[in-house]
Amino acid sequence: MDIRVFDTPEETAAALARRVARALADKPSLVLALPTGRTPVATYAELRRLHAAGEADFARATTFNLDEFAGIPPSHPGSFRTFMERHLFQGINLTLSRIQFLDGAAPDLDAECERYEAAIEAAGGIDLLLAGIGANGHIGFNEPADALAARTHRVRLADSTRRDNAPLFGGDVSAVPGEALSMGMRTILEAGAIVLIATGARKARCVERAVRGPVSTHVPASFLQLHRHVELYLDRAAATAL
Ligand code: GLP
Repeated sequence: MDIRVFDTPEETAAALARRVARALADKPSLVLALPTGRTPVATYAELRRLHAAGEADFARATTFNLDEFAGIPPSHPGSFRTFMERHLFQGINLTLSRIQFLDGAAPDLDAECERYEAAIEAAGGIDLLLAGIGANGHIGFNEPADALAARTHRVRLADSTRRDNAPLFGGDVSAVPGEALSMGMRTILEAGAIVLIATGARKARCVERAVRGPVSTHVPASFLQLHRHVELYLDRAAATAL
């Protein structure tokens, strides 16, 4: 793993945004996979800034988000789709038909997961996958468990994950859906390159377990150790346990 440590969360975000802009310059038809959460917000702001400055062109790129809540429509204020519109999509020049998203309100959620896998394949696979990490070691919504699903699937959310996501639902944990759809570990590990971003002391322990611990379904992010090309973008606080 290629570990990069920056002094502040802002520097981490700026470096990651430049990394994405470089990848777009090298391959304008880049297929990106994108995370939600508080961590990538600064990176998305920086990507919007780079785009406005003419330094990041998304016109031919395709994006797939890692996950989405089940049981709410894309237009719901708490959905990851709404989050992405607000923090990234509205400020860049992605082509609408090349924004791919899981639909948590699809009538048949298993069929929706299969549709997503087929769409990733039809796009030629994911070139660059950005991921955050849950404090419990989850990646996407692959929660710690005795077994992990390989492909895009339905998942029951851990209580801690629902608490972490409550800010998207006005702080009301009971309003956070109990289920979500997520790319599976195999879907994630098939990406050409993976960049994990983590900032803040709260992530130090799970980053250490993901990077140095045994590969375990109880720390889904530890599966990244099996991939040839993983970069970690960390601030000092998130790197303290390494
Ligand atoms: C959610 C997302 C994850 C993300 C995690 C971390 O649970 N599904 O993909 O990595 O949040 O969020 P934060 O960056 O807010 O700590």
